[in-house]
Formats: sequence, structure tokens, C-alpha cells
Amino acid sequence: MNRIYIEQLSKHIGKEVTLRGWLYIKRSSGKIKFVVMRDGTGLVQGVIAKSEKSDELFAKFEELTQESSFIMKGKVRKEDRAPGGCELDVSDIQIMQIAKDYPITPKDHGVEFLMDRRHLWLRSSRQHAILRVRHHIIKAIREFFDDGGFLLLDAPIFTPAACEGTTSLFETPYFDLGTAYLTQSGQLYGEAGAMAFGKVYVFGPTFRAEKSKTRRHLTEFWMVEPEVAFSDLDDNMDLAEEFLEYIVQSVLKHRMPELQTLERNTTFLSNVKRPLPRITYDEAVEILRKQGVTFEWGNDIGGTDETIVSEQFDRPVMIHRYPAETKAFYMKRDPKNPKLSLALDVLAPEGYGEIMGGSQREDDLDVLLQRIKENNLPQEAFEWYLDLRRYGSVPHSGFGLGVERTVSWICGLDHVRETIPFARMIYRLTP
Ligand code: 4AD
Ligand code: MG
Repeated sequence: MNRIYIEQLSKHIGKEVTLRGWLYIKRSSGKIKFVVMRDGTGLVQGVIAKSEKSDELFAKFEELTQESSFIMKGKVRKEDRAPGGCELDVSDIQIMQIAKDYPITPKDHGVEFLMDRRHLWLRSSRQHAILRVRHHIIKAIREFFDDGGFLLLDAPIFTPAACEGTTSLFETPYFDLGTAYLTQSGQLYGEAGAMAFGKVYVFGPTFRAEKSKTRRHLTEFWMVEPEVAFSDLDDNMDLAEEFLEYIVQSVLKHRMPELQTLERNTTFLSNVKRPLPRITYDEAVEILRKQGVTFEWGNDIGGTDETIVSEQFDRPVMIHRYPAETKAFYMKRDPKNPKLSLALDVLAPEGYGEIMGGSQREDDLDVLLQRIKENNLPQEAFEWYLDLRRYGSVPHSGFGLGVERTVSWICGLDHVRETIPFARMIYRLTP
């Protein structure tokens, strides 16, 4: 198909082109009229000046309203002052549909008003920038693992049991088999994949019935989870930092215009280079106490505390070896101190907090059985998972990176709701 989009116009200077899109804004200046069209790839200003067709074109110009769809023909002219470097001398306009009273106007709207009209809000240039960065992050994630020899393993969304605690499970009736749960993480399946293929990554939507109304929580979010056989916690941290550096540097290389639209200060992003600082949970607790936080050893490092710790660093920081009590059943205990799990969290700087969580996994059958009992999990549902320890068990580890939190941090947003096309939160199921 030989269709021309606005982002390609600089390659068509001096040529007659046909553009298809929507009216972004229009204005007149004396006898000249300007129509700014958006087509999803960019904006271009069409100029209607006096000509033998101008009466007809002026009438069309009068009719056009914000977000009306139309086809515009004209000759591309180089115009250095215009965004994209081109303008169009309009020779014809064909109106497809006139939009009446488009609700999102250039004035300031409240965020809930905009979230209610998310299906329309997606048309704005800020949302374009965010979702383009999101797309690029996902592309970089795939590139990193694909080029690194990881097999993509798609985990199921309907699952028979909890992976990340029983308090945040979404349930759904499942025919004669009782209850299915929407997956909280594909990790357990990733582990089966790692034993089959050596190294894999699971990438898909995950679900948490979290009653949190924070700027970091969605009920449906995307997670990428690599899992590697014959890999311990140190190997896992090496992989995590290489991965994070790759994503951030790739966004800086390819998506600078979008970051500029978002007025993102990229100093901290340029710092995302190996090695990243690695501190233990104990050291993190020390940092908190030095900052005047009364923190009891053994507690999880929650939202505000994460912010305080991450603010002490100019790049992401890895915290490892957490108190086992706060962490998931599948994590291996530290052989040097069984009170600790070989867990890993990566906190983004600038107060963004946790973007990655992972661990070395428990690979001993009896210990894992014990953990399943301690956590009151139904052993039956985990028999297949226990098989991975019965047949050729090896040390293995992996982590999960939350896409939306990563987008939020890289774009410098104050809430994850704008990082996904249609956010799902405790109080939002529409549009
Ligand atoms: O730390 P989490 O719970 O780890 C796991 O699910 C492991 N099974 C991953 C693994 O080892 N394969 O979640 C991983 C990441 C978090 O660091 C965060 O970025 C994101 O998933 N995340 C959320 N993002 C948005 N909304 C929520 N409610 C999230 N919960 C977790
Ligand atoms: Mg976590």
C-alpha cells in the first residue's frame, strides 16, 4: 500500500500527497486559513490561500471542527519553522465526518474526567509520547531476550493456584473444575520452561486484586519474567542490571523526541549503566534509620520507605537478601542465614520505588514441600511444580519487571494510570 503518513512528509517535498486524518486545530490569519491535521504519526499544518478553488476550500474550513475526520490533498513544502519541517499547500479537502462537541478541549481537564474519556484522551500528543515509549520499552525487552538466546514461553492466564500470596487473587468459576485464578505471575511456568529450555522469558498480562489506591498499583499489568537454569542470586543480579541498562539506553537512543514532549529530565536515566549498586536488606534498613525512619527489622520495605531508600542513589539500586517471612514461598533461603531469602528487588531512582522483584528459587523438594505447608497452599495444585524438583532439580533464578512502573519511571510520570492504554484499578473498569 502506497499510503503516505505525516511522519514521512520530509521525503516528499515538492510532491502532491493525500493525507488522511483528523482535525487537531484550525485558525485563520487574514485571508489565509490553517488546518492542522493529525494522522497518528504526527501533525502537519495545511495552508489554504486564495486560489481558484479557495471559496470551496474556505467553506470546508468553516465546517471542520476539532477531531472531524477528513482527507486533505496538497503539495508538500519545506518549512523549517514547522514541526516535522514541512507544510502542505492545500488543494483539496474531503470531509469524512464532522465531530460535534469533542469533549476534550485544549483547556485543563481533571484527571478523572480524562480517564473517563480515555478512549479519546489517547489522541493527545502527551499520551502519544507515553505510549510510544511504552511500545519501545516492550520492543527493547523482546530484543534483549531474543538476542540473548531466551525462548519466549507463554504462560497461562487461568491458573489453579496462587503464586504471589492468596490475598490478591482474582477468582472466576471454571466449568466443572471449580475455581480458576487469574495469574499473578507466570513465574512458576517459567521455571518449568527453564528446566526444559535452559533460559526462557514469560511476557504477558498479570492480575492482582490489590486494594491499593497508590500511584504504583494496577489490578491488571504487564510483567516480563526471565527464568534461567543453573543460575544463582549473583547471576540473577548480573542479568537484571544488564537488562535494565539495555532498556533505558535503548529508549534514550530512540525515543528522545517523546521524552522531550514529556519534559523529562534524562540525567538520571543516562546514569543507568552497569554496575548498579547492590545493597543488602540490612543495609537498606540502616539507610532508613539514618533518614530518621523507625523501622523494625523483618518488616517489608513498603512504598514510602522504598522512596526514601531509592532517593539516596543516582541510579537504580538492587536490594538483596530480605527477611524470608515477608517473601514468597518459592524463594530459596540463604544457606548462611536461613532467616533470609535469596530475594532481589530493584528500586528505580527519583523515588519511583520497586520496578523489579526476583529471587533464586528453592530447588530442594523437601524444603519446598515444607514451605507449601507453612503457607497453607494446596499441595495438589503444586504437584506439577514439585515435579521440577523431583526430576533433575538445579539451582535456578529469575525476576519480574513490571512494564507500567518502568514506563512511569522512564517517562517521569506521577501515576501508572497513563502508562497503559486502558488502566484497570480497584475503582476503574471503564472504558
Ligand atoms: O515483585 P513481584 O510480585 O514479583 C513476582 O511476581 C515474581 N513472581 C517475579 C519473578 O520472580 N518472576 O512483581 C514483579 C514486578 C514488581 O516489581 C512491579 O514492577 C510489578 O511487577 N508489579 C506491579 N505493577 C503494577 N501494579 C501492581 N499491582 C504490581 N504488582 C507488581
Ligand atoms: Mg515485589
